[in-house]
Amino acid sequence: MLASIISSGMSKIGRRDDLGSRELFAEAFTECMEKVPNVDRKDIDAIYVGSQSEIYERQIMYGNLIAETAGLLPKPAIRVEGCAAAGAIALRSAIIDVMSGLHDIVLAVGVEKMTAQSTEVVTDALMEASEPTLEQSNGLTFPSIYAMMAMYHMHKYGSQVEDFARVAVKNHHNGSLNPKAHLQKQITVQDVLNSKIVASPLKLFDCSPISDGAAVAVVTKKEIARKYTDTPIHVLGMGCATDTLGLYSRNDISWPNAAYLACSDAYQMAGIDASKIRIAELHDAFTINEILLCEAAGFSDRGKGHLLVRNGDTSLNGKISVNPSGGLKARGHPTGATGLAQVYEIFLQMRNEAGKRQVDNSDYALAVNEGGSDAVVVSHLFDR
Ligand SMILES: CC(C)(COP(=O)(O)OP(=O)(O)OC[C@H]1O[C@@H](n2cnc3c(N)ncnc32)[C@H](O)[C@@H]1OP(=O)(O)O)[C@@H](O)C(=O)NCCC(=O)NCCS
Repeated sequence: MLASIISSGMSKIGRRDDLGSRELFAEAFTECMEKVPNVDRKDIDAIYVGSQSEIYERQIMYGNLIAETAGLLPKPAIRVEGCAAAGAIALRSAIIDVMSGLHDIVLAVGVEKMTAQSTEVVTDALMEASEPTLEQSNGLTFPSIYAMMAMYHMHKYGSQVEDFARVAVKNHHNGSLNPKAHLQKQITVQDVLNSKIVASPLKLFDCSPISDGAAVAVVTKKEIARKYTDTPIHVLGMGCATDTLGLYSRNDISWPNAAYLACSDAYQMAGIDASKIRIAELHDAFTINEILLCEAAGFSDRGKGHLLVRNGDTSLNGKISVNPSGGLKARGHPTGATGLAQVYEIFLQMRNEAGKRQVDNSDYALAVNEGGSDAVVVSHLFDR
């Protein structure tokens, strides 16, 4: 066991007009601290803050912004980046801090305020996480990058647009049970297929939305976790791997190799294999990506991820509940916050606090958070 998580909080995700990062963080932090009344704020030794872009709020110093809002100055407070993997990188940094013995209690934060900007500005800011020479300069966008992966997967393995649509239907269903989700409307396969094309074959409902939100987790040494709560969850393993920024340098764009390596490391560290995982929060920024990550996490053979959703194996109470929160697709995707929003869901699920979307027997859970087009992937494996 690497470390324990004794509390977690998350703001409502969505279009949060008039709220900036400070207020979104405050909402998540207040919920988190209410769950551990024995933790005095001054017991928090350090803060890591994941944020994707400095463009949305014209702010780089998220470490300071958050520490000040939390009343934690002059504690060390460091912003980490990694595009949409920033939240999991903040968690990983907090865990390493605690494991090193440097600190006892560390706060991991993820936050992003996106919706005050137009879709064009957000699309452009996201593309700063892509390869500059050929991909940015030729006008690629994240939807079009994942559309190419989808096309190739269809060509090579026979997945169909209906399989992608099934991922959206499943995750919208789960999101409809999550009062904090951005999109809480149930949809049908036909709704997905009839929605507007964003980058063929991906349509509006194949994409995660642009969202505002924050999520936090308190990490401690396993030896002291029970001083603060009877129901901590534990980090058994973690992994982090990278790949080329440009898709054109990869051998096979239908295989997310960094995700595979990040998951393999987490399994090895935890001493378990994929068959033990009951819940997974996977980075479904686009529906195809949930399918690719199911393969990389070992839930299916390579090239067969689409069969899981086709057969209902990844539905809420299927063999492996994938994205019970609604995932990025429906819970929403405030980029820097997403990695910790995944952890928030796992924290609730493992403590039987997930309400209408509670999954049975959630002994082991996996979170996979991705930055760029599978360019940096961070995984965490939990038990309780
Ligand atoms: C898909 C996308 C292009 C749609 O943006 P848009 O065309 O500007 O859409 P709008 O914001 O104008 O919204 C139009 C409607 O669709 C809805 N909507 C927007 N995005 C949606 C999504 N992804 N799924 C479902 N509904 C969505 C809005 O709520 C709105 O509904 P309303 O008219 O009932 O209010 C945008 O959400 C996007 O770029 N998503 C991907 C973000 C991304 O790449 N993240 C990083 C990945 S690592």
